[in-house]
Amino acid sequence: MNRIAFITGATAGIGEATAKILGKNNFDLILTGRRKERLEQLSKLLEKENGCKTMVLAFDIQNRKATDEAFDSLPDEWKKIDVLINNAGLAVGLEPIHEGEIDDWERMIDTNIKGLLYITRWVSPGMVERSSGHIINISSIAGKEAYANGSVYCASKHAVQALTQGMRIDLVKHGIKVSSVAPGAVETEFSVVRFKGDKNKADEVYNGFKPLYATDIAETILFMVTRPAHVNIDDILIMPTAQAFSRAIHREE
Ligand SMILES: NC(=O)c1ccc[n+]([C@@H]2O[C@H](COP(=O)([O-])OP(=O)(O)OC[C@H]3O[C@@H](n4cnc5c(N)ncnc54)[C@H](OP(=O)(O)O)[C@@H]3O)[C@@H](O)[C@H]2O)c1
Repeated sequence: MNRIAFITGATAGIGEATAKILGKNNFDLILTGRRKERLEQLSKLLEKENGCKTMVLAFDIQNRKATDEAFDSLPDEWKKIDVLINNAGLAVGLEPIHEGEIDDWERMIDTNIKGLLYITRWVSPGMVERSSGHIINISSIAGKEAYANGSVYCASKHAVQALTQGMRIDLVKHGIKVSSVAPGAVETEFSVVRFKGDKNKADEVYNGFKPLYATDIAETILFMVTRPAHVNIDDILIMPTAQAFSRAIHREE
């Protein structure tokens, strides 16, 4: 029987790649994100190519009511979630603290921290009841160190690291695994979102070096969710070879 994975942010990047790899590896999938059309396309593709079952839930994780309604709409057989991938997240803007846009800060905090909490609060009681489950939070190198002009994004990902540790402590007695994955630069829609649609600026981020690709992270997640029951990978920091820390990227001339 397939296990059920709930993936937030499955419309693009790391979440989409994770859905594709888990769909090929005996998982049925709950695919979430705001862009419903993309979720429906992905759902059709995965069902056709892998024969897995999928369920689409389109909602904004910043909106607590919409999140509640999405969960309420899940049929009972889909509520027994084995793996939760808390992936949806974003960076918006790149400014020093005294020039930052407060609306950008709120979007990052509401998505990366509060959204992750709403989802976890919904999914974790079922895991406790069944004494099994695995929660994987997608953090970042920004959760390990701060970098110039990114203090609020970095703070939000430091919060993800702290929440991962705290959740693991709370849930250990229920046999639930809690992990985090902290990637360096991954070429996805991330920078287009950060620069508010400016594709040229986004492309510059990845100029002159080989970044990670979403599939690199998805393969890591597959490894984590297929360890034996007694093994938990607490935390993985995964970087491009050309990136030594956030702002130390070796670019070819
Ligand atoms: N790319 C990197 O360099 C990098 C590095 C370290 C960590 N990360 C982290 O990796 C995670 C995935 O990012 P990515 O690189 O794959 O970026 P991406 O391609 O922009 O994908 C982000 C995903 O999050 C979803 N999302 C964003 N806001 C949402 C909201 N309010 N409600 C529901 N879904 C929302 C998006 O879906 P919709 O737009 O359809 O809602 C999309 O599916 C994020 O947590 C990010 O912080 C990325």
